[in-house]
Amino acid sequence: MDILSLSPEEREKALDAVRKVKFPIYDGCMLPKFPPIMANTEKHMQSIRNFDSRESDILLCTFPKCGTHWVHEIVSMILQGDARYTKGHKLNFMMEACNLEELANAPSPRFINTHLAFRHIPKKHVDNGYKIILVSRNPKDVMVSFYNHIDRDPLTSCGEDNFPGTWSDYIQDMCENRHNIYGGYFNYLSEWEEAKKTKVVTNVHSAFYEDLKKNPVAEIARLAAFLNKELSSQVMEDIANKCSFKNLVDATKSGQKGEDVLPLVSRDKTNFVFRKGTTGDWKNWFTVAQNEMFDQVLEREFKGIDLKFTYEL
Ligand code: A3P
Repeated sequence: MDILSLSPEEREKALDAVRKVKFPIYDGCMLPKFPPIMANTEKHMQSIRNFDSRESDILLCTFPKCGTHWVHEIVSMILQGDARYTKGHKLNFMMEACNLEELANAPSPRFINTHLAFRHIPKKHVDNGYKIILVSRNPKDVMVSFYNHIDRDPLTSCGEDNFPGTWSDYIQDMCENRHNIYGGYFNYLSEWEEAKKTKVVTNVHSAFYEDLKKNPVAEIARLAAFLNKELSSQVMEDIANKCSFKNLVDATKSGQKGEDVLPLVSRDKTNFVFRKGTTGDWKNWFTVAQNEMFDQVLEREFKGIDLKFTYEL
């Protein structure tokens, strides 16, 4: 069923039904309730793993809330060669959400995105060393951002489990990795770091949300170099400016980026992708005790892993 094509009343009914349903589980990971996953989880996930990748494909890999939409627009502009807003919706190229047959027939170069765990992304893409962009963000801001998203998005909340519940319920749940959507952020990062260290994956451009905030033009230049795109300094500055938080929000609201469908499905009818766009908001959410608990979890989960995060700018 295409929820967006329903009348407002029918849509609310359908969204309520989605909110109640439990998460599909695949290979130990809870997954968001995207239509193709709900239709046949095993088949869709196998089709992603066996996807016929092309050498020109670029795969954007992120855990939710690491700045996916932001980097998606930046990379789309880099590929386009100028700073005009692009209209194509990220969801149409999101492997777990989209129609894979349409994706298979899309013209090259395809710019594909996914939040799936490393072990679930297309094997051919990894084995053949095709381009991957991996964006990470400090885990505390990811927790806060994801909480605010989950609470509003019927695909990632679950009425039957009262998930996410209060912030306090949620952060405890995350520390225990109970509702481990996409496997959970700790596992997501550990798996990627292990794959990079052991050279199971090779052609990866790693970027951090905080570096993009601090130094957007330099990070855009690094991305352009990885994508073999020559851009003038002026174009790179224009891209940074057009993709600043305020400008990207305005462009989304005004329709310059195409129709904004997220408010149609969100609990409070706002776009749950754009919230604050800052680094360090976690300090407004974590109590001292929660922060200590979380630091212990990070120490345990990332033992032996060389990952340094920026928690404030
Ligand atoms: P916050 O909830 O902390 O504000 P994703 O696209 O992966 O879902 O990530 C969403 C997060 O990136 C949200 O974080 C959102 O506000 C932030 N974001 C989106 N566009 C941004 C931009 N242009 N600059 C900085 N942050 C941005």
